[in-house]
Amino acid sequence: MSIHKKVKRITTHILQEMKHNGEKISMLTAYDYSMAKIVDEAGIDIILVGDSASNVMAGHETTLPITLDQMIYHASSVVRGISRTLVVVDLPFGTYQGDSKAALNSSIRIMKESGAHAVKLEGGHQIKESIERILSAGIPVMGHLGLTPQSIYKFGTYTVRAKEEEEANTLLNDAKLLEEIGCFAIVLEKVPAKLAQRVAESISIPVIGIGAGAGVDGQVLVLHDMLGITHEFSPRFLRRYHSLYEEMKGAVENYISDVKSKSFPNDKEQY
Ligand code: KIV
Repeated sequence: MSIHKKVKRITTHILQEMKHNGEKISMLTAYDYSMAKIVDEAGIDIILVGDSASNVMAGHETTLPITLDQMIYHASSVVRGISRTLVVVDLPFGTYQGDSKAALNSSIRIMKESGAHAVKLEGGHQIKESIERILSAGIPVMGHLGLTPQSIYKFGTYTVRAKEEEEANTLLNDAKLLEEIGCFAIVLEKVPAKLAQRVAESISIPVIGIGAGAGVDGQVLVLHDMLGITHEFSPRFLRRYHSLYEEMKGAVENYISDVKSKSFPNDKEQY
């Protein structure tokens, strides 16, 4: 039986065991109670309360505007909906890059006020001190390398990262550094599949990919993308499991039509 089916709760240690046993890790984002409940009951290993909430929940163009208070609101809603999955929360832009004390304070607020189990930060050697300080307070940290959307204005585009040797080497060294200082896992976003596999084989902590190929230890997608709620966004790595945009729009159109035609409510739908 898979480890995933055997355990009552997913912990960072269980994820380590999954990697060790070659069992792939499943991760999806969620930002609210109802969705988190569905995703948890379906048996996901990790829910990421991603700062992609800035895009899919708040309609911003980038992940930069979302605030710590807003992330805590999303995370606490998610935590109320779950009973078994590990909940990881993104530290939003501007709450950890400045200094390690701010990083620790932001993480403590997330853990205390939302009840989540871990935090995620974007970056490698540049934020080493912040990660170390958070870890020293007993808070598990997930790293995030490759395409790091909080740096979109530095990159200029959402294209694949680390295609050149120099950036690939920096990324590999950053992954080793994150393992060494104590991160329990790393998200690797939009990098060549060969490099992602090399990273996963070079470190003992799980590497969870998004647009990073099949050679890593797990996969993550944004829930609204894989359900087809967002329908304009179609990167190559995205597999859609539903077309909820069309289905939901159709349902709303039917409701409007029923109200206008006076067929809703009928005799049985009233007191
Ligand atoms: O914010 C997010 O949803 C993420 C995933 C894309 C990994 O960081």
